[in-house]
Amino acid sequence: MRDSQGTEDPRTGGRQLRRIVYTAAQIAGRVRELGLELTMAYSHDEPLLLIGLLKGSFVFLADLARAIERPLYVDFMVASSYGAGTASSGDVRLLYDPEVSLHDRHVVLVEDIVDSGVTLNRLIPLLEARGPRSLELCTLLHKRIANDLVREPRWVGFDAPPEFLVGYGLDQAESFRNLPFIASL
Ligand code: IMP
Ligand code: MG
Repeated sequence: MRDSQGTEDPRTGGRQLRRIVYTAAQIAGRVRELGLELTMAYSHDEPLLLIGLLKGSFVFLADLARAIERPLYVDFMVASSYGAGTASSGDVRLLYDPEVSLHDRHVVLVEDIVDSGVTLNRLIPLLEARGPRSLELCTLLHKRIANDLVREPRWVGFDAPPEFLVGYGLDQAESFRNLPFIASL
């Protein structure tokens, strides 16, 4: 299948996509670059833990982890989605919390997309409180519309357009996660 035929992709079940924003090849190339950057960013004898924020990051995390050429650990987080909320970390309800200790590890939180920044603003203080050796963010997409992020992502795959994007893990009402490209609806 060619990426340019995405609007006819059998994975959409007949639903129309507006346009392909990032092809599978573009994503693969960028993920390889990010993998190399993360590989070089940490001393190889220090433990590195990737924490994927589910569900949206599951495809990106799978590819990114394999592009990082050094030992690493993988775990996940599932945070409940409250509506518009305060930035207080007390509001975060974690449905799944990493079982491994963050203490003394370099932690990279892996996100699919930063939109309003509400999610990150809640999770960062919570993770920071567990005393990781360092804590950084790696997001595949950044809409650059959040203006009060407690921390800017150190690694960003693409600056995304202000459209609703699906595919490569990103969903609309749980659909489209299995598109190998990223499209706008
Ligand atoms: P934020 O808290 O507003 O930054 O939103 C973060 C979460 O909202 C992401 O991890 C996604 O799960 C979801 N999200 C935000 N924008 C989009 C989009 O364009 N497509 C799909 N999901 C999105
Ligand atoms: Mg998400």
